[in-house]
Parts: sequence; structure tokens; C-alpha cells
Amino acid sequence: MTAELIVDPRQWQCRCSLAREAGRRIALVPTMGFLHAGHMALMHEARRRADERADPPGSSGKQGSWKGGLALATIFVNPTQFGPGEDLARYPRDLEGDLAKCSSAGIDWVLAPEGPGRVFAENHETWVTVERTSTGLCGKTRPDHFRGVATVVAKLLNLTRPQVAVFGEKDWQQLQVIRAMVRDLDFEVEVLGVPIVREEDGLARSSRNTYLSAVERQTALALSRALLEAQARVGQGERDALALRSRAAQVLEAAGARVDYVEVVEGVSLRRVERVEPGSRMLVAAFVGATRLIDNVALS
Ligand code: PAJ
Repeated sequence: MTAELIVDPRQWQCRCSLAREAGRRIALVPTMGFLHAGHMALMHEARRRADERADPPGSSGKQGSWKGGLALATIFVNPTQFGPGEDLARYPRDLEGDLAKCSSAGIDWVLAPEGPGRVFAENHETWVTVERTSTGLCGKTRPDHFRGVATVVAKLLNLTRPQVAVFGEKDWQQLQVIRAMVRDLDFEVEVLGVPIVREEDGLARSSRNTYLSAVERQTALALSRALLEAQARVGQGERDALALRSRAAQVLEAAGARVDYVEVVEGVSLRRVERVEPGSRMLVAAFVGATRLIDNVALS
């Protein structure tokens, strides 16, 4: 099956609206493209969830009303989530390759708007700010980043109105920001988080890994190594967050990465904790050369 490319958000909105009225269940995967195995895991999940039959209780499920679900993806390098001096202009793109990957993952339609003007009109002036969850961690180094993310995700949810929207745990803070927005603004959608997909050696898959030289690629392994070591220490009984953070920072610096942050937080509120408890997570961001990478792991 070939995924159908739609470039006009208005046409997309119309098609989604008709599909929903026809009783089709919609699962959406928003992306910025240059798709890798992490995105593919989200798409497979969307396919599964779209195809779940929600037959009314007592029905045999054989009444012929089932139209089949729709697994949809969007590919849009959202300019509003990039800060000045960030990598918007050189963000990797490969629409043709992406469409082939979407097709192989069983995605039905792909919205890939031509140029940012199709999504953000010149007179755009409305922004979604998820205040507390966006502050700290990545929000510190990238002050307007989550405002751009929340706004574009709100738009994509309104254009698509899916029953399920699928996001990766790789961007843990982003996932919590989106969950908070959906909760606070009453979006009628289930937000699904999918575990991080890693390379065999542990590096979390990311479109930005393509920026890394061979030497930097080795240095980048320090992120997952530091997190796994922290997880192992917790397994051995360590509960002191400061000790875990210091050790993780040491691992990163010894490898030649520049630490942006190493935090131990409560996984949903993202509030810093002093002692590891059920639900605690370690989140790291570090620069490897000019490339900023993030990763995270559950500590308990
Ligand atoms: P992008 O970086 O393309 O990621 C799209 C989705 O794929 C996000 O939900 C992200 O968490 C998930 N993802 C990326 N790498 C992953 C990995 N290794 N394992 C599991 N999931 C992974 O995140 C964005 O785009 C944008 O901010 C977006 C939400 C599309 C808004 O513009």
C-alpha cells in the first residue's frame, strides 16, 4: 500500500472530517520527517490503534459497519519551535524516502505541507504556552521551543481530530507538555507514549544523529551509557539523586560531551527530586560537538 501525500492542510482537514463522519477511527503521528526506526515504531503503533475495533457492547462485530481505521502521519519542520541560531535551515529532509517509509509502516495518508506558510499564516498570532511543564530542562536552553511545539501540535490535532495521537518517550518533556496541553484545553484525544528506540549500541535514534561525525558518534554513546549506569546504581540500592546526577555528568564529561543538564525528576510533573522514588526519571541533554542530544530513562 502506498501512503497518499496531501500537501494542503485544508484538504487534509476536509478528508479527516469526512472519514470521521464515516465512522473511521484515526490515529495520528506528528513528525518533522527524516524518518528513522523511532518514528517507525510510532507509526506501527498508530496502525495498530487505528485498526482496533470499538464495537458497541453486545454487538457481534459482524454488522458491516466497520470501515477500517486510518493511520495518519504529518511531516512538517515546524519553524516556530526552533530558536535563533538553531538548525532550522539545515534540518535534514528527505520527503521521497519518508513517503516510502510511511508506506511500509502502513500509513494511509501523509500531510507534508509545502513550506511553513501553509501552516502558519503571515498574520498568525495565537500561541499555546504550557507554563510550568515547559519551564526548566530543555525549556531553559530553548526558551520558546515548547510554545512552538504545543502550538503546532494543537493545530495538527485540530486539523486531524484523531482519537489517538502517538508520541515518543525519547522527547520525554515534550510528551509531558503535550499531555498537559491536552488535559488543560480539553482536547478529545488519547495521547500515547512509545518507548525509546535505540541503535544496537544504545544511542537513541534521532534525526539529528546524522550531524555526528564518526568520532562524535562514539562520544554520543556517553548519554545512554550514563543513563544505564544510573539505572544500574538504582538497582543496587542508590537513591540519592545528587550522587546519581554527579556521576552521570562525570561520565558525559569524561567522554568529551558538554553537559547541558542532568536531572532526576518525577516523571509526570518533571519536578526535581532529591531521592529516587517510583516514577522517577533521569533526563539528560548534552552537546556533542555542535549537536545537542537528549535522552532519558526510568530509574525505578
Ligand atoms: P520529531 O523529532 O520528528 O519526532 C517525531 C516523534 O517521534 C516524536 O514524538 C518523538 O518523540 C518521536 N521519536 C523520535 N525519536 C524517537 C526514538 N528514538 N524513539 C521513539 N520515539 C522517537 O518531535 C518532533 O518531531 C516535533 O517536536 C513534533 C512533535 C512533530 C512537533 O513539531
